[in-house]
Amino acid sequence: MRNKVVAGNWKMNNDINESINLISAIKRDITDSCTNVKVIICPPFTSLDTASTLLKNSNLFLGAQNLHFAESGAYTGEISAEMLKNVGCEYVIIGHSERRTLFNESDELINKKLISALANNLFPIFCIGETLEQREKGITFRVIENQIKLGLKDIDSKEIKNCIIAYEPVWAIGTGKNATPEQAEEVHSFLRATLENLYSKSISDDIIIQYGGSVKPENAKELMQMPNIDGALVGGACLNSDSFIKIIEAANKY
Ligand code: 13P
Repeated sequence: MRNKVVAGNWKMNNDINESINLISAIKRDITDSCTNVKVIICPPFTSLDTASTLLKNSNLFLGAQNLHFAESGAYTGEISAEMLKNVGCEYVIIGHSERRTLFNESDELINKKLISALANNLFPIFCIGETLEQREKGITFRVIENQIKLGLKDIDSKEIKNCIIAYEPVWAIGTGKNATPEQAEEVHSFLRATLENLYSKSISDDIIIQYGGSVKPENAKELMQMPNIDGALVGGACLNSDSFIKIIEAANKY
């Protein structure tokens, strides 16, 4: 039985004061009854330290949005996995489509980042997803399979158990147009079959596969009811505590 996991990807939003306000509101308003769902908050790097302090002794977990695969060295502007651990992160988003498209991150680079996260005991939230053009060409499954295979290269059965997969169709991100529950479920069950082929049935049964792309309070219930959708990776709607909590409550219930 998989528990749900909801992560809020703040992207490049919220300065330190805004971060304090948002985390304080989430902590204040989230109900104790949300015991079936794990909640992860992923602020920008500049707010991680503050967030880490605020999240101590709470049921909320801290994640980052990116890392560099090297341990240390001459990589101006970059942050290592060890630094993220040191500031209190337990999770890290890797391979987000905005990183892939805006910053030219390749599957090979994403694979290195996943390996580095795992080696430093961070749980990666590994994002995959097709563009609108790829969906319209009918090659969604091929694209997804490729991203999974290349991203998870050399990651063994023990390590994959520490990964969360997030299916985020690129055409649904920030567009207000979510995948229908059926469209998402179709890809999630394909993903589970792919993971069974690569690893084993028990691994594929246990792995958390989140859906991301315009998740809102209005569509969360339907999405969370799908058998292979194990939570959400939320962008825009996580910047407001009310809407984020409504999504968490839907994940907790369904
Ligand atoms: P939106 O929820 O704003 O579509 O963003 C989704 C996303 O990219 C989460 O990582």
